[in-house]
Amino acid sequence: MAERILVTGGAGFIGSHVVRLLVERYPNSEIVNLDALTYAGNLENLRDVEQRPNYRFVRVDIGDAAQVDALFAEMAFDGVIHLAAESHVDRSIEDPLAFVRTNVIGTVNLLNACRRQWKDAMEGKRFYHISTDEVYGTLGKEGLFTETTAYDPNSPYSASKASSDHFVRAYGETYGLPYVVTNCSNNYGPNQFPEKLIPLFINNIRIGKPLPVYGDGQYTRDWLFVLDHALAIDLVYRQGKNGETYNIGGFNEWTNLDLIHLLCRVMDRKLGRTEGSSAELITYVKDRPGHDRRYAIDATKIERELGWRPSVTFEQGLEQTIDWYLANTEWLENLTSGRYQEYYDRMYGGR
Ligand code: NAD
Ligand code: TYD
Repeated sequence: MAERILVTGGAGFIGSHVVRLLVERYPNSEIVNLDALTYAGNLENLRDVEQRPNYRFVRVDIGDAAQVDALFAEMAFDGVIHLAAESHVDRSIEDPLAFVRTNVIGTVNLLNACRRQWKDAMEGKRFYHISTDEVYGTLGKEGLFTETTAYDPNSPYSASKASSDHFVRAYGETYGLPYVVTNCSNNYGPNQFPEKLIPLFINNIRIGKPLPVYGDGQYTRDWLFVLDHALAIDLVYRQGKNGETYNIGGFNEWTNLDLIHLLCRVMDRKLGRTEGSSAELITYVKDRPGHDRRYAIDATKIERELGWRPSVTFEQGLEQTIDWYLANTEWLENLTSGRYQEYYDRMYGGR
């Protein structure tokens, strides 16, 4: 094998798309998928590539330094693409420490292992940290987040991601660790756990459950199709400059309510329901505490320097996403039963 790349969080939503892309694109590279398989990790996401000779799965909890060190003692890596994280804002409000453990301590455990393994040969190695636009806090009506926007996180999730970003930079400055960071906007697409807005609402429309809209629904997000994020990640891993940050976004801002109405219209059409029937499920609920009003990314740096742009329009991506969920109801039902159901009932009062 020409190289060995460790992808952390590869059984999750974005990670599984990254793993598939790398396994298929680089048959001479060994792709090692590290994942603890929390509620959000699902090896079903990778059934189609798990038999490939250049794919390997290891179950490791990055919050446990001994497990990380044991893996690095067994295998040498040319690079790490780090996606493993606790990723849901609402859960971070319930249990901030779980986010500190995985997102902060887990990242530092990986940084320590890389630093030790690469100490005599940093050349050509790379620690690629995947982060979020949420570290920048919230925007008013105007403006966009750029790579130089000051960090101003508002949720325990974004505070833990901001902290991990700082540790990555600090390891670059202090120990010379070669790194790159990207901060991306909201992703959507196949295989996203149905606790996030788009898959939760697709599933609820499908089964006729209420659509819980937080607050006034006038919150704005910048949506990017997950495959376009995976393509950007591969590009940055190969061609990004060490020590740089790149913002990745969809050039695609929607208020939650406009997005939900679009989703309802497309679902009515796909399910052969009367126009307007899904929108009747919209239910306004108590707002999320510390809810960021608007996120929007200025992605001109990655476009100018690396030639990346989203390849699908929102309408195309959303159609593909809805089609995938409607064709994979078993995947959805496996997740929405059992343990997840208990969490869901606690969050939404069994609605
Ligand atoms: P996800 O929750 O779907 O997947 C996270 C994966 O990490 C899961 O497979 C889970 O099992 C694994 N994991 C969690 N804790 C772990 C631990 N202690 N040890 C090892 N593995 C562990 O998340 P996602 O949406 O795919 O996000 C992936 C990354 O991208 C995260 O770092 C997130 O902050 C970042 N990001 C996500 C978005 C988005 O819209 N989803 C946007 C920008 C950035
Ligand atoms: P989410 O998918 O949780 O992503 P993030 O909070 O990381 O941006 O939420 C997207 C937007 O949708 C956010 O403004 C919160 C809102 N939202 C609801 O109105 N209802 C819901 O049930 C969920 C999960 C989110």
